[in-house]
Amino acid sequence: MRIVDLIIKKREGIELSDKEIEFIISNYVSGEIKDYQMASFLTTVVFKGMTPKEIGKFTFEMMKSGKIIDLSAINGIKVDKHSTGGVGDKTTLVVGPIIASLGVPVAKMSGRGLGHTGGTIDKLESIPGFSVELTDEQFISQVNKIKIAVIGQSDNLVPADKKLYALRDVTGNVSSIPLIASSIMSKKLATGSDAILLDVKVGNGAFMTTIEEAKKLSEQMITIGKQLNKDVRVEMTNMSRPMGKAIGNKNEVLEAIETLKGNGSKDFIELCYSASATILKQAKVTDDEKEAYKMIDEVIKNGKALEKFYEFIKYQGGDVEKLKAKDFWNPSFKLEVFAKKDGVMEITSALDFGIVASKLGAGRISKEDSIDFEAGIQINKKTNDKVKKGDLLFTLFSSKAISNELVEELEKAYTINEKEVENKIILGKME
Ligand code: URA
Repeated sequence: MRIVDLIIKKREGIELSDKEIEFIISNYVSGEIKDYQMASFLTTVVFKGMTPKEIGKFTFEMMKSGKIIDLSAINGIKVDKHSTGGVGDKTTLVVGPIIASLGVPVAKMSGRGLGHTGGTIDKLESIPGFSVELTDEQFISQVNKIKIAVIGQSDNLVPADKKLYALRDVTGNVSSIPLIASSIMSKKLATGSDAILLDVKVGNGAFMTTIEEAKKLSEQMITIGKQLNKDVRVEMTNMSRPMGKAIGNKNEVLEAIETLKGNGSKDFIELCYSASATILKQAKVTDDEKEAYKMIDEVIKNGKALEKFYEFIKYQGGDVEKLKAKDFWNPSFKLEVFAKKDGVMEITSALDFGIVASKLGAGRISKEDSIDFEAGIQINKKTNDKVKKGDLLFTLFSSKAISNELVEELEKAYTINEKEVENKIILGKME
């Protein structure tokens, strides 16, 4: 078999056989298939799609490309959550500690930034000392002891996705239902949780820009999960505006902490409460939505969720004192953007905010790039906030000098209107 023939076959719209998919994944992981060949295959998939049978096989081959973690030594219903990727999306940092503080075991594998979107692993690694590499034994023992552990993808955990993810990120091959569904579900299945909540982002800052595409992606992922008897639920959420007020890494960690203290922004709180309530139902803690919200409120108000967050950071080597220190986030350069007129703010493009944050240093442009954890954007006026001429709208941060061109790029990402606009956060649920 030759990869070049399979690329052509895919391009001609002919379904690949199980054997051919097995060949592609195993030979890419072993290095026989080169990055440039795989990039061409991925681009072909982006344009031609995959049949449901191909997606199923692609996912299982990816899952099997490394070891599979057996979580049976953890008591209770193990839950996992995963976002399809957004701008300012620090949800795991808040939802994880909330549900763990309510006794639900959270065993999670997270990803790095992809395209213009941020990644939980990058955010966690912005905390000095924090390690996302745990052995299976450490992972299981930590979930048993403190109910929460988050790991990154080590070389032997779904290596096919690890390689593909990094390649897709820098070759413009992210936005594809089969590639996203197989990437997410291969990881979720390899880490063996019983219940999975998928936060499928919709809008121009997401990889799915319409609700129809989001539903298709959700259906694919639910179908894959059902084949392995997992309780997979989906929440489709708005990503036409950035989530919360911080976009970056260190600043997003700080926003997560503020949210756990009860000081989060309205949109982000709504998202976190909804996700946490769904997970509490999946974990069979309660089947009553109101009761779930009450429980979440309680652990925010009594500080238990925040305590859990710090405990989790400490367990994985993070320096909590440094995290709490005033100079934890200390960017050298900043540039402020002010309102040119009175009115009501509307952020119209989460995508542009994501791209600008990435250019400031918060994301990667090429595979080998390292992240500037200080870089990012703080939003002072969110959609539907009243604005007076001269008010501070946003601040850009970086460790290197900030070019005015980036401010110009942001200018096309918002408007100041006369009236408020519709701003729904939860767009739909599926299971
Ligand atoms: N998150 C993933 O893990 N993979 C994708 O392809 C997109 C978002």
